[in-house]
Amino acid sequence: MKRKLVVGNWKMNGDLVRNQALLEQLVRHELAAVERAVCVPFPYLAQAQAALAGTPVALGAQNLCEFDDGAFTGEVSARMLREFGCRYVIVGHSERRSLFGEDDAMVARKTAKALAAGLIPIVCVGESLAEREAGQVEAVLQRQLDALRTELTPAALAELVIAYEPVWAIGTGRAASPEQVQAVLAFIRAWLGEHGGAVRILYGGSVKPDTARELFSLPDADGGLIGGASLVAGQFIEICEAGASASHSA
Ligand code: PGA
Repeated sequence: MKRKLVVGNWKMNGDLVRNQALLEQLVRHELAAVERAVCVPFPYLAQAQAALAGTPVALGAQNLCEFDDGAFTGEVSARMLREFGCRYVIVGHSERRSLFGEDDAMVARKTAKALAAGLIPIVCVGESLAEREAGQVEAVLQRQLDALRTELTPAALAELVIAYEPVWAIGTGRAASPEQVQAVLAFIRAWLGEHGGAVRILYGGSVKPDTARELFSLPDADGGLIGGASLVAGQFIEICEAGASASHSA
């Protein structure tokens, strides 16, 4: 059995009361056949660390600074994330790329920084709708992936998690079709085979309880990165269950 990985990306959502209820429901639900993690906003790391301590649900953050320490007002370093028990950190989410000006080179530097600190980076890649319509999916993915090679050795590349998140499927309720997803995952798998080796590849973008099972069962899918549905305990649990049953058949 190859265990799938299901990661919740809370984005900039939550408050102390709602988080506590959500985290308590997640840890109460035992699911050995799937790896689970939640990536919470920075101010809630301590709360989530306490709630998840001693449970199989791992903690992650949604971003990190490309530098170590010092005069970088407003930034958070990889070391700080480790201090709060983070195992994962999302890097280069399309919202960071499009709204906060992160380019491929910065994403690569952040990825290297995360790995050096002992975090597992979940590096997001994916094309926009315009790029898909222009037939540029593979070119965009190739560019985003090649940038990682400027900062990472093949051994380091093998430590990553890659999340394929087509920008047009994020938060739109319009998940990519299984055929579209599998084609890109296979492309990423081939790239990794050439440059880095075995890496877990997730799909993200409007994954819901009713679509999760099919998406996680695709030949090259190792799990999912879940936004909106990770904020609703019942939905996230159902998606994790879909991950568990896809693990059994993998
Ligand atoms: P979504 O977000 O599931 O709400 O589409 C996924 C993501 O942005 O990671």
